[in-house]
Amino acid sequence: MDLKVLPLHQHIKYTQQCCDLINKEWKRSDTARLRSLECSCDNLPTCLILVQNDRVIGHLKLTPIPNRKHTCFIESVVIDDKMRGQGLGTHLMKWAEEHCRNNLNLNEIYLSTRGQEGFYRKLGYIECPPISIYGSFTINSTTSDKTSNNNTSIISDEVFCKSLTPNPPPLPQNLINQNSTKTYMKKPLTVIDN
Ligand code: ACO
Repeated sequence: MDLKVLPLHQHIKYTQQCCDLINKEWKRSDTARLRSLECSCDNLPTCLILVQNDRVIGHLKLTPIPNRKHTCFIESVVIDDKMRGQGLGTHLMKWAEEHCRNNLNLNEIYLSTRGQEGFYRKLGYIECPPISIYGSFTINSTTSDKTSNNNTSIISDEVFCKSLTPNPPPLPQNLINQNSTKTYMKKPLTVIDN
């Protein structure tokens, strides 16, 4: 099976296919979606795509969390609806975790979900209190490269993060209410000794 996980920004020919895949699941304008996808870089945020026979069949996005070094937030995890239940979501998530641990030097991953808790539990994620992904960003990878977006405000798929305050503000009450139906989960990335 010709199955590859690729960083989208290194394979931009797949951007429109990736946009279509995500928008089929969560409708948003192509303009807004493409803007978010175009933020992908070697540092964070990074969009990873699952490609089979030149077709994008999966996506997830790794987003930095303000003032939480060595962590990231995984969002917009999606597998083509005709290809679910074959282990592809697991493959993409495990690849992403290895990338976070080995290339980005991260030690914890967070996410939120409505309804897919079982999938993440099988991958070792446990429930945790809600976290804020709002506020300013200190890029939390130790890597530095010319393609990183260090000086820009980062667009999360959950929210367009435009404020540049020194500390993340507390979660506004309306967002606490909105988020209360979500389950927040986390997974520590343990170092694997060879
Ligand atoms: N509840 C319980 N178990 C589940 C669920 C679920 N909702 N979904 C999958 N599983 C199980 C499978 O049965 C399988 O179990 P097994 O190992 O015992 O056979 C295991 O989890 C792995 O399943 P995969 O085949 O790897 O999962 P798949 O390729 O179908 O991808 C995904 C899962 C990404 C959730 C897919 O169903 C999807 O795209 N759903 C729609 C979009 C979505 O809701 N994405 C998650 C948003 S939350 C976020 O982005 C952080």
